[in-house]
Order: sequence, then structure tokens, then C-alpha cells
Amino acid sequence: MTATPHATDRAALVTGATAGAGYRTAQALAARGLTVLISGDDRTRGAAAAARLRRRAGHDRVYFLRADHSTVAGNLALAAAVAERVDRLGVLVNNAGGAYPQRRETADGYESTLATNVIGPFTLTRALLPLVRRPGARCVNVVSPGGAGFTGDPFSDVHSVRHYTAAAASARAGLLALAWTLELARRERAWGPRVFAADPGAGRSAPPPRPRPGRLPAPRPLRRIARTRQRRTHRAALAAATTWELAGATGSLLDPSGRRVPLAPGVLDGEFTERAWALVDGLAGAAAHGRAVD
Ligand SMILES: NC(=O)c1ccc[n+]([C@@H]2O[C@H](COP(=O)([O-])OP(=O)(O)OC[C@H]3O[C@@H](n4cnc5c(N)ncnc54)[C@H](OP(=O)(O)O)[C@@H]3O)[C@@H](O)[C@H]2O)c1
Repeated sequence: MTATPHATDRAALVTGATAGAGYRTAQALAARGLTVLISGDDRTRGAAAAARLRRRAGHDRVYFLRADHSTVAGNLALAAAVAERVDRLGVLVNNAGGAYPQRRETADGYESTLATNVIGPFTLTRALLPLVRRPGARCVNVVSPGGAGFTGDPFSDVHSVRHYTAAAASARAGLLALAWTLELARRERAWGPRVFAADPGAGRSAPPPRPRPGRLPAPRPLRRIARTRQRRTHRAALAAATTWELAGATGSLLDPSGRRVPLAPGVLDGEFTERAWALVDGLAGAAAHGRAVD
């Protein structure tokens, strides 16, 4: 890799692409001939994934960049590393994320689901906007399914201190991620990238655990369903990143098959998306300046 930024619109960054849906998205983009940057937390898994992707793509332009997506500093560091390597990005897929059975906090002092699924991608995207600010570019945020069905007040107890379940934290994160995605699409509508939210669907992406001695393996039909779901969790993100017909549909949410989902009128109106943007912006800014906010 050279120190001079590589000038190409045919470069993509897929975060959290050492495994699961991100890996398959990166594989499909690399197979289309794009230069693909992938990120992940673990250097060994990252190097192995990049090597596998290079072999499968039949070219060498797949690079792993180590990143901690759970912190603002980690996302800013990744943006700087990306800008050293490419001067434009045609595709940015914010896929890294997760759900956590127990409540935990990141180094910024933020609840992990919110930090990794909402504040992290917001920080990264904002820092990379100079590289994607063209109508031909695509910015895709993988959002947790169920976000639109969140019933509580997403602006209250944002770090789930009073009440935590993985499902509720994921649903809140999904809703806030969808909201800032729609707000980004509105703000960048004229000259910026086409912006999409992609629902991966509920399916294990990582391979199911091997049956342990004494535990029966899942019945074959269930294993088949799990495998099918595994293979499909990248479809919405890939469609958002590549489908030509979606060029005029910035600000859309895509279902797990890659089809546009009508958004319930009023649920995500401009006031709501602006409020979500302000919340996430405030949290990202405070962490960048070393002040966590409740
Ligand atoms: N699969 C589902 O059922 C489902 C449901 C709802 C939402 N989603 C969302 O869809 C996306 C992909 O899910 P998946 O199941 O395919 O994921 P996965 O198989 O668990 O893979 C996660 C990827 O993200 C990376 N990653 C996670 N946390 C990170 C962090 N803090 N810093 C750096 N890298 C990190 C991992 O890197 P390392 O290997 O280096 O740790 C790995 O490459 C996620 O955003 C997830 O929240 C998935």
C-alpha cells in the first residue's frame, strides 16, 4: 500500500467485515472489482479475512484496517487511516455493531449498544463526508430490525442505566440510527451521497456453535433455516450500495430482501430526526472532547 491516497471512486469501506454480513458485503463488492477496505477489532481475524477476500476476488485491492468502533476516538482514527489510503470513497457501509446480553460501557462511558451502533457510525460518517460528498457515492447504515417498533421514549435514559435488556437497547439504537440516517439524507440531498438504512433481518450471521458433547444438534430443518438466514443478512446493505434503481431513493430504509420499506408517516418526521441528530452529535462531540454526557 502506498502513502499517496489512491484516487478512485471505485473504493469502498465496509466496517465490521472480518465476519458475518460485513464480510459477505465486502466479498460481493471486491468481486465487482472495487478496492475494498475492511475494518474489525481483531488484527489476526482481519488479516485472515483480507487474505481470503483477495483470493476470492482475484485481485489484491482488499485491505484490513484495525479499528475500535465502540469509541469516538477509534472511529476518528479509522477515518484518518482511510483518508491516508484513498482520496474518495464510492461506498461506505457502516456495518459494525452488536447486541450485548449484559449492560456494559465503552471507554467513553457510553452504553455499548448505543456507542457501537449509533454514535460510532455517526462519527465515522461525519469524518468521512469529504470523501463521499458526491451524488454518485453511497452511504449505507446497517440498522437493527425492530427499531421502528420501539415504543418507549428514545430520548430518555439513553444509556439504559435505569432499565437494560439487549432487545430494548438494540431497538432504541435501531430507531436512533434510522433517524440520524434519514437526517443525513435530508441534509446531503442536493450534492451529497445517496444515503440508505439497511435492515439485515434477524438471523445469526456467525456460524452456529458446534454441538457440545451431551447437547443434541439442532434439527436439520432448523440448521438449514439458520444457514439460509446467515447467507442473507448482507442483502439489504449490498442492494443499497450497488442497485442502480435506488439512485433516486436517498433516505430509504431497505428490508432484508433489499426492497424499500414505506416509513410510517409522522413516526420519523423532521423534528424527530433533527432531535436524534442533535442528541448523537452532542454525545459524539462530548466524547471527542473528553467529556461523557449522561
Ligand atoms: N445477524 C443478526 O441477526 C443481526 C440482527 C440485528 C442487527 N444486526 C446488525 O448487523 C450487523 C452485522 O451483524 P453480524 O451478525 O453479521 O455481525 P458479526 O457476525 O457479529 O460480525 C461483527 C463484525 O463487526 C466487528 N465488530 C463488532 N464490534 C466491533 C467493534 N467494537 N470494533 C471493531 N469491530 C467490531 C467484528 O470484528 P472482530 O471480529 O474483529 O471483533 C466483526 O467483523 C451488526 O451491526 C449487527 O448489529 C445483525
